Amino acid sequence: MKIGVIGTGYVGMVTAVCLSDLGHDVIGTDIDKEKIDKASQGSCHIYEPGLEELLKKNLKNGTLSFSHALEDTIQASDVLFVCVNTPQREDGSADMCYVESTSRSIAENLNKYKLVVEKSTVPVQTSMWIKRTISLYKKGNGEFDVASNPEFLREGTAVSDFMHPDRVIIGVETKKAEEMLVKIYKKFKDKVLVTNIDTAELIKHASNSFLAMKISFINLISDLCERTDADVELVAKGMGLDPRIGKRFLRAGLGYGGSCFPKDVRALIKIGEDLGADLSLLKEVDRINTDRIQSFLGKIKKALWIVKDKKIAVLGLAFKPETDDTRNAPSINLIKELQSQEALLRLYDPKAMDNMRIHFPEDPPKIIYTQNLLDAVKEANALLIVTEWDEFKDLNLRKIKDMMANPILIDGRNVFDPDEVRSLGFEYYSIGRK
Ligand code: UGA
Repeated sequence: MKIGVIGTGYVGMVTAVCLSDLGHDVIGTDIDKEKIDKASQGSCHIYEPGLEELLKKNLKNGTLSFSHALEDTIQASDVLFVCVNTPQREDGSADMCYVESTSRSIAENLNKYKLVVEKSTVPVQTSMWIKRTISLYKKGNGEFDVASNPEFLREGTAVSDFMHPDRVIIGVETKKAEEMLVKIYKKFKDKVLVTNIDTAELIKHASNSFLAMKISFINLISDLCERTDADVELVAKGMGLDPRIGKRFLRAGLGYGGSCFPKDVRALIKIGEDLGADLSLLKEVDRINTDRIQSFLGKIKKALWIVKDKKIAVLGLAFKPETDDTRNAPSINLIKELQSQEALLRLYDPKAMDNMRIHFPEDPPKIIYTQNLLDAVKEANALLIVTEWDEFKDLNLRKIKDMMANPILIDGRNVFDPDEVRSLGFEYYSIGRK
């Protein structure tokens, strides 16, 4: 089987590289010529641990190639993984225009039977639209099946998530499609769950929304902790010991960001509205998450009173550690607010500064990106921890305190132990604990 991967963003690139590493013959294509040129030369446009090594290895083995020509890729392939983006529209719904145009291209190049696999996160019932579009636009008698195989990889651990999946969801409506997908994933056969297509599509949105709900739930509880003597870290630990709850995704902080959770929660709310199902629980999940920044600003105000002209070191710009991705990062709304209050911001992140410059260009003395962490904290009136990179956990706090104008540490990710930090002379604020 020859596999074509359409769209080489995060999901597409990892899918193409990892499927080729499983021994399949894969060709990746994208409308962005630069991405394809770079990939063909073994260079990845995203930072993802281990990905570039595998890309180089499989290009060399000859099991992986890249092409600008969508038509050729479609015609040469037996299976097509659709990995194009589904951005959020104004009303919260997913914009399906790229999935639609890809479906038309497939229709126009249906030279033989093809299995069209949705890999992008799509609203439930999208397969029906893909089928209708291909049927409407196809010229000959070319046969095809549509299937859903949602991706569950996390940025930062994408390769390992792909290669060691908890589950491989295969949504199909024909035996042939099932057999082809089971064959592609034969290495993970114990992890395969076969469902119908609507179910597979919904598993993806429901999983992401559930995890987002866990995060908003613990953040809600953290607000209560701050008004009592309870410690949210221990509340989460105690809750997590119950295997029915589980300890993961119960870290209180500045809320969830990234290209998936915020968008997927809103998309699912919209799907519910369109189909007449009340999903208002998820509206609260979204609202609680959005409010995290205001609550963090409250702590900054409590510590600094007036923010104008205060030097504030912001450590962590990526939406989470181990990625350079700043899409929907909590840091963006935080910086916007601090900027509007005329703070003097010193921004630092180990990987995400280039991406953040697109949102906030360097503008001294209001916005300065520093070469290293120490330059950011020098003479600062306050230090904010926004993303929990390991580099920050290992900070030499004694040294930092001497470098700052005021030893004020506002920790949005509960990286430090309050007693320890205070014993060094810091004024310390964190989330959901005294
Ligand atoms: C998420 C899912 O975890 C993946 O399974 C899914 O495949 C992916 O979306 C997707 O749909 O493509 P990702 O967005 O890469 O993956 O990041 P996560 O590690 O899930 O973190 C999401 C956000 O939640 C981050 O901003 C993180 O800081 C925040 N978070 C996570 C918390 O605030 N608390 C937690 O306890 C856990």
